[in-house]
Amino acid sequence: MSRYRPVRKAVFPVAGLGTRFLPATKAVPKEMLTVVDKPVIQYVVEEARAAGIEHFVFVTGRNKGVIEDHFDIQVELQQTLQDRGKTEALEILQAALPAPGQTSFTRQQAPLGLGHAVWCAREIVGDEPFALLLPDMIMQYEKGCLSSMVELYEKVGGNIVSTEEVAMEETHKYGIVMRGQDVEGGFRLEGMVEKPARGTAPSNLFINGRYILQPEIFSILATQQAGTGGEIQLTDAMLTLAEKQPFFGYTFTGRTFDCGSKEGFIKANIAYALANPELSQILRPEMEALLSEVSPKK
Ligand code: G1P
Repeated sequence: MSRYRPVRKAVFPVAGLGTRFLPATKAVPKEMLTVVDKPVIQYVVEEARAAGIEHFVFVTGRNKGVIEDHFDIQVELQQTLQDRGKTEALEILQAALPAPGQTSFTRQQAPLGLGHAVWCAREIVGDEPFALLLPDMIMQYEKGCLSSMVELYEKVGGNIVSTEEVAMEETHKYGIVMRGQDVEGGFRLEGMVEKPARGTAPSNLFINGRYILQPEIFSILATQQAGTGGEIQLTDAMLTLAEKQPFFGYTFTGRTFDCGSKEGFIKANIAYALANPELSQILRPEMEALLSEVSPKK
């Protein structure tokens, strides 16, 4: 048994407008775009479930109601599948369903930044540590990123951000951390900076969208001023929290797809399709044919 309070709740900020994917995201939330056969948000919720999360808190916004529907029962659909003997499809639907009472939805009323979105979850999270999973990022690995972070948390407690290496020329797109002394399975965090200007990043370790945070972050966020991009930044609030509480980094070694960008989203679709034996068998030769068309052999 760990001596630290367990991480039971996870927050999913899903209020983003998805402007990079217009017109696809005009009526469909970006989190509902599919990677092979599941919406992006489902991959992230499954990662949280595999890590032992019991309550799923969605910070939504206008036009995001379909996310709520996705994690609810669809009575007519279930009945039809049952009547038609489509047991496999029915099982897939049921396996993805959180238990009654395990989900909460609250709204971020204005797009004021990630820090503000997290703050909107304060009443539902209450006074306990929680996980935060950014739904743009989906991770392909035999063991979920959050599961490994929970293991680290059980040993070291405090706050943890997951990090990963990125090309130096990409660092301006992310939160970047400074690595300190190693601890068991992680490292002490020496500092963080949100989206450093090109050429100024203190390292190439970026925050890849998975966090374990103590509830004291909420009172800091309540008065956090806007930072980079004119938005209330979670990274700035975490820096303040790090002055008072232990803060650790975890290095994820699996593959992360940034589905907030077109190239990351397309890469995710290709990677997950190739990881599916049936699809892969059909797609590999098709892909080779397509590739030879766009770059003819010499
Ligand atoms: C947010 C965080 C940033 C992190 C990134 C990961 O930025 O502020 O620190 O590296 O997510 O996707 P956003 O993508 O919301 O601009």
